[in-house]
Amino acid sequence: MARPTKQMRLGAFLFDYGHHYAAWRHPESFTPNAIDLEFYRKSAEVAEQGKFDMVFLADSGSLPSITDLESNVSFIYPEAVTLLGALASVTRKIGLAGTASTTFNEPYSLARRFATLDHLSNGRAGWNVVTSTKESEARNFNADQLPEHGHRYERATEFLDVVKGLWDCWQDDAVVLEREAGRYADPDRVHRLNHNGSHFRVEGPLNMPRSPQGRPVIIEAGTSPAGQQLAAKTADVVFTACDNKEEAIAFYQQLKSQLPLYGRQADELKVMPGLMAFIGATEEDAKEKERQFSELVQPAVGASYLSKLLNYDLSSHPIDGPLPDIPKQGSTSRAVMIIERAEQSKMTIRELGMHYSVARGHLTVTGTAEQVAHVMEDWFASGACDGFNIMQPLLPQGLEDFVQHVVPLLQEKGLFRSEYTGSTLREHLGLERPIGRQV
Ligand SMILES: Cc1cc2nc3c(=O)[nH]c(=O)nc-3n(C[C@H](O)[C@H](O)[C@H](O)COP(=O)(O)O)c2cc1C
Repeated sequence: MARPTKQMRLGAFLFDYGHHYAAWRHPESFTPNAIDLEFYRKSAEVAEQGKFDMVFLADSGSLPSITDLESNVSFIYPEAVTLLGALASVTRKIGLAGTASTTFNEPYSLARRFATLDHLSNGRAGWNVVTSTKESEARNFNADQLPEHGHRYERATEFLDVVKGLWDCWQDDAVVLEREAGRYADPDRVHRLNHNGSHFRVEGPLNMPRSPQGRPVIIEAGTSPAGQQLAAKTADVVFTACDNKEEAIAFYQQLKSQLPLYGRQADELKVMPGLMAFIGATEEDAKEKERQFSELVQPAVGASYLSKLLNYDLSSHPIDGPLPDIPKQGSTSRAVMIIERAEQSKMTIRELGMHYSVARGHLTVTGTAEQVAHVMEDWFASGACDGFNIMQPLLPQGLEDFVQHVVPLLQEKGLFRSEYTGSTLREHLGLERPIGRQV
C-alpha cells in the first residue's frame, strides 16, 4: 500500500490527575497534589518522547462551586502560561499551548505573555483562544453576568486583531545590535499600533522584539457559527469535541470551506478533535480498565457535572428521568451536542452524567493499541480531522501507554513522525511563519 503523504498532528492535553472525571480517585493516580510541577514535567517529557506536536492546557477564571469540591477536582486549573513557562525549561522540542480567555483579559497583557513564552521557549508557544462559558467567571471580573455569546465573539474578534497587530509591531529586523556604534534597535522599524476600536484602545508597540514564530500559534475551541467564523479568519488550529465521525467530517468540511473567504487555504488550519483511549492488551482488558474508572464516578457527581456542561441546573430534576427541555438557542456548541444526543438516545440524566463525565463528549476508544490506531487512521483518512488532542484518562500513565503502544503503530503506517524535523510549534504543525511588517 502507498505511504500516506500527509501526517497527523498530535497534542497531549494535560489535566490534573488525568481526564477521566474520577481520575483523582484512581488508586494509581500520580500525586496527592493537583498542581504539581513534577506531574506536569513527567507528562510533558512522555509526550516529547512520543514526538507530539504540543502539550495543551485548558484554563478557567473561577471556582464555580465550593460545595462540589467535596467530590470533584475538575475545577482546579493552574494558570496555563505560568505552568508552560516552567515546562519550557524542562523540554526542548515540544510545543507549549495554553488557554486564555478574550472575555476576561486585556489584549496587551496577553500579547506580552504569549510573546514572552515564545521567546523563552525558542518558538514553541501556542494560545488556545476561548470566550469563556461560566457565569462564575464574570463575577470574578467586575460583572454580574457573562456577556452574551454574540458579544463575546465580537470582542474576541477585535481582541485577536489587536494581539496580532501587537505581535507585528516590531519588524523582524528591528534589532540591529551594533555594539560599537551604540545602536540597539532601528526606531524606524518599530511601529505603534494605534488601535482605536469598539472594545479596545491600544497604542502599542509591545515592549519586546518580535518573537521567534513571528506570532505564537492560535488555537480556538469554539465551534458555533460565530466560533467557526473567527477560526476561519484567524486560527491555525481548531480543537473540537466530537464523538461521531460523520458529524466530524461535516464540521471539517464546513469549517475548511470558510477559509477562502479570508484569503486562506484549507491546509492553513488544522482540525484536532479530542480523543480518549482506554488501551488494553486485549479488548476485554481495555473494557475492564474503563469499567474500573466508571465505578469511581458517583452518579450524583456525574449529574452535577452534566449540569455544568449544559450550563443548566439539573438538581431539581429526577436523576432517572429524561433531560428537561433546555433551550438550544444561546447554549454552547457542546451543550447543543449533548441535548441532541439525549433526544436521540433517550438516556436518563444518570446515564448521561456517567457517559459525559468520562470524556466530556470527546471521542472515546476502548480497545487494543491496534484498534485505537485503526480508528485514528480511519478518521484521518476519511477527512474528519488533521490529528487529535490526546486526553488520557489517567496521567501520565495513560500517555505512557499511548506513546509506547499506539505511536509506533502510527509511525509504521507512515501517519506520524519518528523524529522532530523542525524546532518551532509552527514547523511541527507544517504552518508558515507569518510575514511581519516590512516598512
Ligand atoms: C474542545 C473545547 C475545549 C474548550 N476549552 C475551554 C477552556 O479550557 N476554557 C474555557 O474557558 N473555555 C473552553 N472552551 C469553551 C470555548 O472556547 C467557547 O467559549 C465555548 O465553547 C462557546 O463557544 P461555542 O459556542 O462557539 O462553542 C472549550 C470548548 C471546546 C469545544
